[in-house]
Amino acid sequence: MAKLAPSILSANFYKLGEDIENALKLGADWIHVDVMDGHFVPPITFGSKIVKDIKSGNKNAFCDVHLMITNPQDQIMQFVEAGADLINIHCEVVHHGDRFINLIKENNKLAGVTVNPATPVSLLEHYLPLVDLILVMSVNPGYGGQKCIGYTLKKIEELKNLKVKNKYNYLIEIDGGIYLKNIETVLKAGTDVIVAGSAFFNASLEEKKKLIEVVHNFKQEC
Ligand code: DX5
Ligand code: ZN
Repeated sequence: MAKLAPSILSANFYKLGEDIENALKLGADWIHVDVMDGHFVPPITFGSKIVKDIKSGNKNAFCDVHLMITNPQDQIMQFVEAGADLINIHCEVVHHGDRFINLIKENNKLAGVTVNPATPVSLLEHYLPLVDLILVMSVNPGYGGQKCIGYTLKKIEELKNLKVKNKYNYLIEIDGGIYLKNIETVLKAGTDVIVAGSAFFNASLEEKKKLIEVVHNFKQEC
């Protein structure tokens, strides 16, 4: 079953716990945590403490951490210790990616590698057999509420084909500009996990329910 991961970037930080609990009660699968450093991307959001606080409020809230930071290797252990369940590092900035994927996995966390829209899938070749997830950015990272860049769906299809052909195990996640109007196309391309910021937290209760229903009821044609 495909999963929905609401991004707390679009939540109301004044009532963050409430927003997260409501999302989980409605059936959201993961909580997507966008960490930005003001360097890899212009805005600054938050660090590992947010994960620690989320996990102390609800240990079952699965924290899918997306590190949009210049030196992700320096922060991995902080997020491990905070209780992150999955840690995504951007292949454009990680030094010694193989080493840091191993470090994440040795600490019994899931390891993901993220690609920006213009970064080709070919750059991921040696990561594919190792990782638990590939996160495909469908917008240039940094801001919620942007439009999905169409050509990124070709990368999802490419990753899906490589996965089937080589019997790899990674999940394919997409992040940015996903709404009810394009969600089925994105799922059909081969996506396993949909990140939704604006489409979830800026939506009515009915729209939130619909989003979760569409994701959970989707059946991939083989
Ligand atoms: C963008 C972030 C996304 C963002 C998605 O840099 O990585 O997770 O919150 O937001 P929407 O769904 O609003 O495009
Ligand atoms: Zn993200």
